[in-house]
Amino acid sequence: MSATSPAAVVVLAAGEGTRMKSKTPKVLHEISGRSLVGHVVAAARELEPQHLVVVVGHASEQVTAHLNAGDAPVRTAFQAEQNGTGHAVRMGLEELGGSVDGTVIVVCGDTPLLSGGTLGALAATHTADANAVTVLTAEVPDSTGYGRIVRDPATGAVTEIVEHKDATDEQRAIREINSGVFAFDGSLLADALGKVRTDNSQGEEYLTDVLSILREAGHRVGASVAGDHREILGINNRLQLAEARRLLNERLLERAMLAGVTIVDPASTLIDATVTYERDALVHPGTQLLGSTHLGEDSEVGPNSRIEDTLVGAGARVDNSVTLSAEIGPGATVGPYAYLRPGTRLGVKSKAGTYVEMKNATIGEGTKVPHLSYVGDATIGDHTNIGAASVFVNYDGVAKHHTTIGSHCRTGSDNMFVAPVTVGDGVYTAAGSVITKDVPSGSLAVARGQQRNIEGWVARKRPGSAAAQAAQASSQGADGES
Ligand code: UD1
Ligand code: CA
Repeated sequence: MSATSPAAVVVLAAGEGTRMKSKTPKVLHEISGRSLVGHVVAAARELEPQHLVVVVGHASEQVTAHLNAGDAPVRTAFQAEQNGTGHAVRMGLEELGGSVDGTVIVVCGDTPLLSGGTLGALAATHTADANAVTVLTAEVPDSTGYGRIVRDPATGAVTEIVEHKDATDEQRAIREINSGVFAFDGSLLADALGKVRTDNSQGEEYLTDVLSILREAGHRVGASVAGDHREILGINNRLQLAEARRLLNERLLERAMLAGVTIVDPASTLIDATVTYERDALVHPGTQLLGSTHLGEDSEVGPNSRIEDTLVGAGARVDNSVTLSAEIGPGATVGPYAYLRPGTRLGVKSKAGTYVEMKNATIGEGTKVPHLSYVGDATIGDHTNIGAASVFVNYDGVAKHHTTIGSHCRTGSDNMFVAPVTVGDGVYTAAGSVITKDVPSGSLAVARGQQRNIEGWVARKRPGSAAAQAAQASSQGADGES
């Protein structure tokens, strides 16, 4: 907690969001790796408030379960009926004992672009001006649907907020709107909420009425205009969801580029808020960097890749691939066209090459699986080479089994390793082998049928065929006849 930390942040997230036309509650829709309410909670946490409470109502069990799913559960207050934003804040304060001493920040759960910095600036202005309430406002190109900020024409002081539905034509022409974000003096807020009435067009308790109630009681009312109106974008439908995703993605990519990451084509790159990186990482077009992915120094990823919850080591290369919950060691190469599934751990300078799928597999330093192979439930030592088109046969139809292969092995092409099986160090295997028994270190394993050539078979069994004619022509050629 810092000196300017607010006493509490109350996040309003009880509404249904009917305009999303969705089974999922509005605040649980995701952009850039977090739910809408998840972004708001993350911004609120940057303020290090003493209390953080999210007011839930519609689909409250689902929203509460989501809020508790992360590492840091969030306290919730229940608003059984959605009787308005003022009522929602009242429910939030009740959860905190009815009233809170100090600054209370109120923010809506559907404004994912709002940054912790903007919230902090609002709290600082509120404290410095010794206001009873400070509202975050913005000038927007189209103010339809928002509450309008009404100012005294003589002094410019904010006098009230009028909801769109209750506004006169003259008031509707106002372009300065209520963002829905406020800083309040906690005890004055609790008093004023008791005085909010419902004689408006929606029959609701409007939080916005607190502002005129406090002003009329002689308290200081202030407004802070947001530098960038896009930050207060509230999501009501899927068009706004896409717009918010685009804006947030742009902001997150900007942050990555300023930190030293090369993004070749920002327009075709997606990055989640939770992704981290080091300098001189390079991202080619058409790449999605998702979840807890980390890009090490000098790593190079893309084009056309989905990299999710993956640790990409320094100098590693991922090309045209999908990686999920994988660890790619320093200098390792992946792809083109590889699929790394959960539990894949690639050692230093190892390789998962073209058309290679791996799952729950630990690959040692310098070990290569270059072509057309499936490696599932396996441990492979260092500096081993797995031949093209090999399959780790891990499933017998009932249970999964493990394959272990040692270091410095050279396995032939088209091998099947039928698990459970263990291959020692320095082993060679013949091409086309089906390895079902353990192989001791230093052995050559040959596990395939002997080749048998039945000469003259085509001439006898397929007389006159093109194959027979070709065979005859080649044998005449070999005899030197014309
Ligand atoms: C509200 C403001 C409006 C402002 C706009 C900014 C009021 C009366 N109006 O309008 O001035 O310009 O936000 O986006 O405050 N909620 C609850 N319980 C309720 C009602 C709402 O938790 O009973 C939550 C909703 O889930 C949502 C937030 O409060 O997260 C805002 O509610 P919404 O209905 O979207 O308010 P607006 O009509 O957009
Ligand atoms: Ca609304």
